[in-house]
Amino acid sequence: MEIKSTSTMTDQEIERLFKWREQVFPIEGKGIQWSKSERHILVYENGEAIAHMGFGRFSVVGSRASDVIGVGGVVVRPECQGRKIPELMFEYLAQTEELDACKLPKTLFCPKRLGPYYGKHGFQEYKEGFEFLQNDEYQSSKQFLLMAQGLADMTGKLKIASLPW
Ligand SMILES: CC(C)(COP(=O)(O)OP(=O)(O)OC[C@H]1O[C@@H](n2cnc3c(N)ncnc32)[C@H](O)[C@@H]1OP(=O)(O)O)[C@@H](O)C(=O)NCCC(=O)NCCS
Repeated sequence: MEIKSTSTMTDQEIERLFKWREQVFPIEGKGIQWSKSERHILVYENGEAIAHMGFGRFSVVGSRASDVIGVGGVVVRPECQGRKIPELMFEYLAQTEELDACKLPKTLFCPKRLGPYYGKHGFQEYKEGFEFLQNDEYQSSKQFLLMAQGLADMTGKLKIASLPW
């Protein structure tokens, strides 16, 4: 297995990773505009991409302002699931200096049912609420949890002046 990060993905990688069934990502996210990832962590096996984790740098404001790493597009090809490959990608993210990821708090959005899964990866639900931009207006959502790692000292409703990730 090989793991690397890149700012661009080939059409073939996008097809293999994001289009292996009609609805690959949680249905709860349909209809929401999501930010594009600045960086892509890709895992390869026998020369083929088998997993992806996108990340970017974003700003949030609660009781204080903070830059955070926003993780999105976590996916493993169905035939490779159950092998703890996301753990490798989280380890890569924790160590990389790209976008200062090694130093910044990490955040992600997920449906409720995946909260315990990301809990195992060291994330905790940010329970004080959040709102993000959609068509230049702030919107909140009960469809998703905001999971965070390294934001324990933040309080108050988080304002995210961008699309979610
Ligand atoms: C979520 C996903 C990345 C997990 O990949 P994976 O390779 O199976 O992950 P792991 O090997 O680390 O973990 C498997 C564990 O996660 C659990 N799990 C996997 N998908 C799950 C889901 N949709 N809901 C709840 N639990 C899930 C499995 O039951 C298993 O539990 P265990 O550790 O107690 O045995 C993969 O299911 C996937 O690509 N799903 C489609 C895209 C998606 O939903 N991405 C998440 C967006 S927030």
